[in-house]
Amino acid sequence: MCGIIGYVGITDAKKALIKGLQTLEYRGYDSAGISYFTREGEDTSDKIKTIKTVGKVSCLKDKVNQAAGEDITTCGIGHTRWATHGGVSDTNSHPHTAGKVTLIHNGIIENYKQLQEELEEKGLTPVSQTDSEIAAMVINDCYTGDPESAIRRAIAKLDGAYGFCILFSDFPDTIYAVRNGSPLVAAHTDKGSIIASDMVALVSYTKHYFVLKEGHIARLTKDEILVQDENGELYGPTIHHISWDVAAAKKGGYDYFMMKEIREQPEALRNTIKPRMVNGLPDFSEDGVSDTLFQDVNRIIITACGTAMHAGLMGKNMIERLCRVPVTVEIASEFRYQNPIMDEKTLLITISQSGETADTLAALRLAKERGAKTLSVVNVKGSSIARESDFVLYTHAGPEIAVASTKAYTVQVSVMYLIAFRFALIQGKISEKEASEYMTELMNTASRISEVLDYDNQIESIGKRLTKASDIFFLGRGLDYALSCEGSLKLKEISYIHSEAYAAGELKHGTISLITDNVPVIAVATQPDVFAKMISNVQEVRSRGAKVILITGQDSSVDAALCDHHVVLPETDPLFAPFLAAVVLQYLAYYVAVEKGLNVDQPRNLAKSVTVE
Ligand code: M6R
Repeated sequence: MCGIIGYVGITDAKKALIKGLQTLEYRGYDSAGISYFTREGEDTSDKIKTIKTVGKVSCLKDKVNQAAGEDITTCGIGHTRWATHGGVSDTNSHPHTAGKVTLIHNGIIENYKQLQEELEEKGLTPVSQTDSEIAAMVINDCYTGDPESAIRRAIAKLDGAYGFCILFSDFPDTIYAVRNGSPLVAAHTDKGSIIASDMVALVSYTKHYFVLKEGHIARLTKDEILVQDENGELYGPTIHHISWDVAAAKKGGYDYFMMKEIREQPEALRNTIKPRMVNGLPDFSEDGVSDTLFQDVNRIIITACGTAMHAGLMGKNMIERLCRVPVTVEIASEFRYQNPIMDEKTLLITISQSGETADTLAALRLAKERGAKTLSVVNVKGSSIARESDFVLYTHAGPEIAVASTKAYTVQVSVMYLIAFRFALIQGKISEKEASEYMTELMNTASRISEVLDYDNQIESIGKRLTKASDIFFLGRGLDYALSCEGSLKLKEISYIHSEAYAAGELKHGTISLITDNVPVIAVATQPDVFAKMISNVQEVRSRGAKVILITGQDSSVDAALCDHHVVLPETDPLFAPFLAAVVLQYLAYYVAVEKGLNVDQPRNLAKSVTVE
């Protein structure tokens, strides 16, 4: 939610900021802007200049080319916005200036109204409708010449989430940064110092970085980054290393990141599963997750948002099936407002690609307060959820840039399967032989997904026939229902076609009234135990005129009249077939959106990482 970057060094800051914002654009693309120190004309003192505009970073780049002229600068901050408070306008775009303070903000200041009233009593009025400008005004109001103490006094007044990069006009070529909730990572390199909301903006400079801790204040100059803790003491942050490089964060010849990421799934799965396969058995010792985590657990709560929550639905199915422990899956944004019941025998599993989703993080914090054990399944190393969980199992998908999650989903599901296998094994619910067979199947899934990647032409041609639909339904039972929820989300978020997923048996309790001639129904029927029932449900919609796309395994005999398109998956153990069907549904969403001429990677109104509640 909003991409932010600050650069101070030896090269043109405008270029560095625009380049960084292009990599961060997936976090929000309503508007973009930069501020930088520069000198104009005969004036020998540094001034802060701001250029901002509604639209994407490409619009900002054009505006900078016109407005920046010959400006020389080596220090600045940049922002790409996902609008929360205040509509999409030039004025509401970041950076915001108040007196000597210019800042960019990722997050939401919840008490901004109250702060605004206090400022207005002092005769100070904002020009924008944003909570972020109020934050700039508060910091400026606290400023008496010492940036760090102004920031410290100001943040004591702010409620909510924030990652700020701040310029003080009295301190040229220096960037200050502080955060609460929203992420900030930073690095000092031979080209200077850089700070951003996401590692993707740093990776072209370095693979070594640190995560700014909440409440700490960083001061960046071209020569160094100094961090002060809450008490103003110097603090030496822990340096982390990333294993992926700049190529992984580029499109690599594909039109869209989404397609690249769909095609990266076999490798992402292997990278995620292989380190947890020891002597053929599931094993988390390399992750530092000891079996004691699973001992005395009498219930599991999985909480997450969106796609990650759908991965949780798959996990629930597998854990309950193999371990016979009750599992509930909770939408993180609902969870903590339900006064959830948890104790030390509860294992709370959070799932998150970014590791920064505000609702998921809040759920995790609540669970810890209530004494539950916590385990997270996270893709981004060192992210807030990973750091705050008792234990973490990283997915090794590499950076996921497209807003629509694809490879992160399948690797999340694979880790949920691994958890089910390990938990069942140590409880004696499955034998070593069974566990080993499951592990082999899970590993083989990577190769089978490679086979499904060759279905692109078939799915493209099906997708082309769905572009005129106004509603599309997804049906499944059991694991296939869990998958249908994800297939439906994928389709609607990037194609803008309304879609719903239904447990196939539930359709006739109301929704079947929406099935009329040519309404597309995507039926996923990979599970033998419910196959006959699924086929009956498909017949019910077919006889009401639905256009049916049926996805099944190899050995399912299907009457040709039952569907318009039949997608037959490669042969596999049915428990693993949803991985393969997932790729079909990802392709389908992709090709429908492409055929409609939409921006697949940056669907309207969305952002990749939702760091506000
Ligand atoms: O970073 P997270 O996995 O916590 O994100 C959760 C959701 O916002 C995310 O899965 C979202 O639903 C996807 N962009 C959908 O494709």
